[in-house]
Amino acid sequence: MSSIDLKEGVREYWDRQSCGTDIAVSEKHSQEYFEEIEQYRYDVEHEIMPFAQFSRWHGKKVLEVGVGAGTDFLQWVRSGALAHGIDLTSEGIENVQHRLEVYDLECEDLRIGDAENIPYEENSFDLVYSWGVIHHSPDTPKALGELVRVAKPGGRIKIMVYNRRSPYVVYKYLRWGLLAGKPFKSIKSIMAEHQESPGTKAYSIHEFKNLLLQHPVRIVSIDAPATYYDLLPDKPAPARWGAYVLTFLMGLKRCGWFLRAEVEKKA
Ligand SMILES: C[S@@+](CC[C@H](N)C(=O)[O-])C[C@H]1O[C@@H](n2cnc3c(N)ncnc32)[C@H](O)[C@@H]1O
Repeated sequence: MSSIDLKEGVREYWDRQSCGTDIAVSEKHSQEYFEEIEQYRYDVEHEIMPFAQFSRWHGKKVLEVGVGAGTDFLQWVRSGALAHGIDLTSEGIENVQHRLEVYDLECEDLRIGDAENIPYEENSFDLVYSWGVIHHSPDTPKALGELVRVAKPGGRIKIMVYNRRSPYVVYKYLRWGLLAGKPFKSIKSIMAEHQESPGTKAYSIHEFKNLLLQHPVRIVSIDAPATYYDLLPDKPAPARWGAYVLTFLMGLKRCGWFLRAEVEKKA
């Protein structure tokens, strides 16, 4: 599949439903709908708040790449950041527009845009933030280069991508490789075919560090603490016990499904 077709596949997938909205039962775009999504997200994904540190960016120029339904984007606006956001899909952008209206909030700029061609000038932002996005884009290294390009010298870039060395990925291999009678199926194809939009990738900490170091950045932190998803909460007890053991063996701070990296753009 060409990169253009793949990107169209990614857009179609996320245009059907923005990330994290499937748990809501209230009427779409109502305040209750958005609050269900927000409460669930921060109850389950404890890794976001301490990483993003929303309130520390008050008055700063922030760009979020891949806003999705806008739960984190709302936190930038509430924190008084000069919030700019892009997403590949109109579904995501409409969700965020409704969300801001519901709370009578305004952002600086919100538009459809591609992480691989970010529609802002270089050296524009104090912080560029992107949670769970660039591993979905066909040319992830290009998207990473764009996040760095638009950050100001001395500015920060905070990124989450999926971690290939996690119990969640082991589960995916068992489900779509071994137990599907395809023990030689690679993790790369399992991720590309069975993890959300087509072509999704996952990186080890070492691989992602090497990708980051191809750019003029200093690594501030890089980690992957064990997540809710690694503990397979909706699977039968033996699978959950196995996941607990694996989590300890693989390292509590390095095995999580969410690989978080914060870097500073060199001046
Ligand atoms: C897993 S969701 C994450 C959304 C949001 N950051 C969150 O954490 O809820 C992935 C999002 O990335 C967006 N996306 C994928 N490829 C993109 C690209 N090349 N440019 C901009 N957004 C992209 C999708 O439209 C989707 O909204």
